[in-house]
Amino acid sequence: MTRKHIVWHPSAVNKKDRQKLNNHKSCALWFTGFSGSGKSTIANELDTQLHTMGIRSYVLDGDNIRHGLNKGLGFTAEDRIENIRRVGEAAKLFVDSGQIVITAFISPFREDRQRVRQLFEEGEFFEVYIDCPLDICEERDPKGLYRKARNGEIRDFTGIDSPYEPPVNPDLTIQTENRTVTESASLLIRYLEEKGII
Ligand code: PPS
Repeated sequence: MTRKHIVWHPSAVNKKDRQKLNNHKSCALWFTGFSGSGKSTIANELDTQLHTMGIRSYVLDGDNIRHGLNKGLGFTAEDRIENIRRVGEAAKLFVDSGQIVITAFISPFREDRQRVRQLFEEGEFFEVYIDCPLDICEERDPKGLYRKARNGEIRDFTGIDSPYEPPVNPDLTIQTENRTVTESASLLIRYLEEKGII
Protein backbone atom coordinates (compact mmCIF):
# COMPACT_ATOMS: atom_id res chain seq x y z
CA MET A 1 0.00 0.00 0.00
CA THR A 2 1.36 3.43 -0.92
CA ARG A 3 1.61 6.13 1.74
CA LYS A 4 2.37 8.80 -0.85
CA HIS A 5 -0.79 10.80 -0.09
CA ILE A 6 -0.72 10.45 3.68
CA VAL A 7 0.71 13.45 5.47
CA TRP A 8 1.69 13.58 9.16
CA HIS A 9 -0.26 16.20 11.16
CA PRO A 10 1.65 17.61 14.10
CA SER A 11 -0.46 18.00 17.29
CA ALA A 12 -1.17 21.49 18.58
CA VAL A 13 -0.73 20.25 22.15
CA ASN A 14 2.51 18.33 22.52
CA LYS A 15 3.70 15.58 24.86
CA LYS A 16 5.60 17.99 27.13
CA ASP A 17 2.45 20.14 27.56
CA ARG A 18 0.48 17.06 28.55
CA GLN A 19 3.15 15.85 30.99
CA LYS A 20 3.23 19.30 32.58
CA LEU A 21 -0.53 19.23 33.08
CA ASN A 22 -0.28 15.76 34.63
CA ASN A 23 2.64 16.76 36.84
CA HIS A 24 4.64 13.66 35.93
CA LYS A 25 6.48 12.25 32.95
CA SER A 26 5.13 9.52 30.72
CA CYS A 27 6.64 6.16 29.81
CA ALA A 28 5.93 2.59 28.79
CA LEU A 29 6.57 -0.23 31.25
CA TRP A 30 6.80 -3.20 28.94
CA PHE A 31 6.18 -6.40 30.88
CA THR A 32 7.29 -9.67 29.36
CA GLY A 33 7.04 -13.18 30.79
CA PHE A 34 5.29 -16.52 30.62
CA SER A 35 1.54 -16.95 30.92
CA GLY A 36 0.86 -17.20 34.66
CA SER A 37 4.03 -15.32 35.62
CA GLY A 38 1.97 -12.50 37.14
CA LYS A 39 2.04 -9.84 34.41
CA SER A 40 -1.65 -8.88 34.48
CA THR A 41 -1.99 -9.07 38.25
CA ILE A 42 1.07 -6.89 38.90
CA ALA A 43 0.06 -4.49 36.11
CA ASN A 44 -3.35 -3.98 37.70
CA GLU A 45 -1.96 -3.59 41.21
CA LEU A 46 0.55 -1.04 39.96
CA ASP A 47 -2.19 0.78 38.04
CA THR A 48 -4.29 0.92 41.22
CA GLN A 49 -1.39 2.27 43.30
CA LEU A 50 -0.54 4.91 40.68
CA HIS A 51 -4.19 5.92 40.37
CA THR A 52 -4.39 6.37 44.14
CA MET A 53 -1.32 8.61 43.93
CA GLY A 54 -3.05 10.80 41.34
CA ILE A 55 -0.87 9.55 38.48
CA ARG A 56 -2.36 8.91 35.06
CA SER A 57 -1.74 5.32 34.03
CA TYR A 58 -3.36 2.67 31.87
CA VAL A 59 -2.97 -1.08 31.39
CA LEU A 60 -2.91 -2.75 27.98
CA ASP A 61 -3.42 -6.46 28.58
CA GLY A 62 -2.94 -9.32 26.13
CA ASP A 63 -6.20 -11.10 26.87
CA ASN A 64 -8.23 -7.86 26.66
CA ILE A 65 -6.60 -6.44 23.54
CA ARG A 66 -7.16 -9.76 21.80
CA HIS A 67 -10.91 -9.31 22.41
CA GLY A 68 -10.98 -6.04 20.44
CA LEU A 69 -8.15 -4.31 18.62
CA ASN A 70 -6.30 -7.58 17.90
CA LYS A 71 -9.33 -9.86 17.71
CA GLY A 72 -8.24 -11.40 14.42
CA LEU A 73 -4.81 -12.50 15.63
CA GLY A 74 -3.89 -15.97 16.89
CA PHE A 75 -0.70 -17.42 18.34
CA THR A 76 1.43 -18.29 15.32
CA ALA A 77 4.82 -16.56 15.33
CA GLU A 78 3.55 -14.26 12.58
CA ASP A 79 0.44 -13.23 14.53
CA ARG A 80 2.39 -12.66 17.73
CA ILE A 81 4.79 -10.40 15.85
CA GLU A 82 1.86 -8.35 14.52
CA ASN A 83 0.22 -8.34 17.96
CA ILE A 84 3.33 -6.84 19.54
CA ARG A 85 3.88 -4.38 16.70
CA ARG A 86 0.35 -2.98 17.09
CA VAL A 87 0.57 -2.86 20.86
CA GLY A 88 3.91 -1.05 20.58
CA GLU A 89 2.27 1.61 18.42
CA ALA A 90 -0.68 1.86 20.81
CA ALA A 91 1.70 2.19 23.78
CA LYS A 92 3.49 5.00 22.00
CA LEU A 93 0.19 6.88 21.67
CA PHE A 94 -0.38 6.54 25.41
CA VAL A 95 3.10 7.90 26.13
CA ASP A 96 2.45 10.75 23.73
CA SER A 97 -0.76 11.48 25.67
CA GLY A 98 1.32 11.99 28.83
CA GLN A 99 0.43 8.76 30.62
CA ILE A 100 2.26 5.80 32.07
CA VAL A 101 1.26 2.77 30.07
CA ILE A 102 1.80 -0.70 31.47
CA THR A 103 1.70 -3.44 28.85
CA ALA A 104 1.11 -7.05 29.90
CA PHE A 105 1.89 -9.27 26.93
CA ILE A 106 3.98 -12.43 26.81
CA SER A 107 5.88 -10.77 23.94
CA PRO A 108 8.05 -13.88 23.54
CA PHE A 109 10.47 -12.65 20.89
CA ARG A 110 13.51 -10.51 21.70
CA GLU A 111 13.61 -8.90 18.30
CA ASP A 112 9.99 -7.70 18.57
CA ARG A 113 10.59 -6.15 21.98
CA GLN A 114 13.71 -4.46 20.61
CA ARG A 115 11.73 -3.12 17.67
CA VAL A 116 9.14 -1.65 20.04
CA ARG A 117 11.88 -0.03 22.13
CA GLN A 118 13.06 1.79 19.04
CA LEU A 119 9.67 3.53 18.71
CA PHE A 120 10.40 5.48 21.89
CA GLU A 121 12.74 8.23 22.97
CA GLU A 122 15.52 7.61 25.50
CA GLY A 123 14.09 7.08 29.00
CA GLU A 124 10.56 6.41 27.80
CA PHE A 125 10.60 2.63 27.43
CA PHE A 126 11.46 0.14 30.16
CA GLU A 127 11.52 -3.58 29.58
CA VAL A 128 10.36 -5.34 32.73
CA TYR A 129 11.01 -9.05 32.93
CA ILE A 130 8.32 -10.70 35.02
CA ASP A 131 10.49 -13.63 35.91
CA CYS A 132 8.90 -16.85 37.09
CA PRO A 133 10.16 -20.35 36.28
CA LEU A 134 8.01 -22.21 33.79
CA ASP A 135 7.32 -25.10 36.19
CA ILE A 136 5.87 -22.66 38.75
CA CYS A 137 3.71 -20.97 36.10
CA GLU A 138 2.52 -24.40 35.07
CA GLU A 139 1.78 -25.31 38.67
CA ARG A 140 -0.17 -22.08 39.17
CA ASP A 141 -2.03 -22.58 35.87
CA PRO A 142 -4.66 -19.95 36.77
CA LYS A 143 -6.68 -20.46 33.59
CA GLY A 144 -6.07 -24.18 33.12
CA LEU A 145 -4.31 -23.43 29.83
CA TYR A 146 -1.07 -25.33 30.58
CA ARG A 147 -3.10 -28.46 31.28
CA LYS A 148 -4.90 -28.02 27.96
CA ALA A 149 -1.61 -27.39 26.17
CA ARG A 150 -0.12 -30.57 27.67
CA ASN A 151 -3.23 -32.48 26.56
CA GLY A 152 -2.82 -31.15 23.04
CA GLU A 153 -6.07 -29.15 23.26
CA ILE A 154 -4.14 -25.88 22.69
CA ARG A 155 -1.36 -25.64 20.14
CA ASP A 156 1.57 -23.19 20.02
CA PHE A 157 1.44 -22.56 23.75
CA THR A 158 4.34 -20.49 25.05
CA GLY A 159 6.84 -22.59 26.98
CA ILE A 160 5.24 -25.86 25.85
CA ASP A 161 5.41 -25.94 22.07
CA SER A 162 6.15 -22.31 21.29
CA PRO A 163 9.39 -20.55 22.30
CA TYR A 164 9.98 -17.81 24.87
CA GLU A 165 13.14 -15.72 24.63
CA PRO A 166 13.93 -14.15 28.04
CA PRO A 167 15.36 -10.62 27.99
CA VAL A 168 19.17 -10.46 27.91
CA ASN A 169 19.49 -7.06 29.49
CA PRO A 170 16.10 -5.98 30.87
CA ASP A 171 15.72 -2.58 32.52
CA LEU A 172 14.18 -4.31 35.52
CA THR A 173 13.60 -7.91 36.59
CA ILE A 174 10.84 -8.80 39.02
CA GLN A 175 11.01 -12.32 40.35
CA THR A 176 7.53 -13.34 41.34
CA GLU A 177 8.05 -16.82 42.74
CA ASN A 178 8.51 -15.68 46.34
CA ARG A 179 7.14 -12.17 46.24
CA THR A 180 3.65 -10.80 46.81
CA VAL A 181 1.88 -8.77 44.16
CA THR A 182 1.96 -5.69 46.41
CA GLU A 183 5.73 -6.04 46.88
CA SER A 184 6.25 -6.32 43.12
CA ALA A 185 4.13 -3.22 42.49
CA SER A 186 6.07 -1.32 45.17
CA LEU A 187 9.36 -2.18 43.44
CA LEU A 188 7.98 -0.69 40.25
CA ILE A 189 6.81 2.48 42.01
CA ARG A 190 10.31 2.89 43.46
CA TYR A 191 11.81 2.32 40.02
CA LEU A 192 9.59 5.03 38.50
CA GLU A 193 10.67 7.40 41.27
CA GLU A 194 14.36 6.61 40.72
CA LYS A 195 13.99 7.27 37.01
CA GLY A 196 12.32 10.62 37.73
CA ILE A 197 9.10 9.62 35.96
CA ILE A 198 6.93 10.27 39.00
S1 PPS B 1 1.81 -12.76 22.78
O1 PPS B 1 2.68 -13.95 22.70
O2 PPS B 1 2.50 -11.65 23.44
O3 PPS B 1 1.31 -12.40 21.44
O4 PPS B 1 0.58 -13.22 23.68
P1 PPS B 1 -0.46 -12.29 24.45
O5 PPS B 1 -1.11 -11.32 23.52
O6 PPS B 1 0.18 -11.73 25.66
O7 PPS B 1 -1.57 -13.31 24.88
C1 PPS B 1 -1.32 -14.26 25.87
C2 PPS B 1 -2.62 -14.70 26.56
O8 PPS B 1 -3.42 -15.48 25.69
C3 PPS B 1 -3.83 -16.70 26.30
N1 PPS B 1 -3.41 -17.76 25.37
C4 PPS B 1 -2.13 -18.11 25.05
N2 PPS B 1 -0.93 -17.71 25.49
C5 PPS B 1 0.17 -18.29 24.93
N3 PPS B 1 0.15 -19.21 23.96
C6 PPS B 1 -1.07 -19.65 23.49
N4 PPS B 1 -1.11 -20.54 22.53
C7 PPS B 1 -2.26 -19.08 24.04
N5 PPS B 1 -3.59 -19.28 23.79
C8 PPS B 1 -4.26 -18.47 24.62
C9 PPS B 1 -3.25 -16.75 27.68
O9 PPS B 1 -4.32 -16.53 28.57
C10 PPS B 1 -2.29 -15.57 27.75
O10 PPS B 1 -2.53 -14.74 28.88
P2 PPS B 1 -1.50 -14.50 30.08
O11 PPS B 1 -2.03 -13.27 30.75
O12 PPS B 1 -0.12 -14.29 29.50
O13 PPS B 1 -1.61 -15.71 30.93
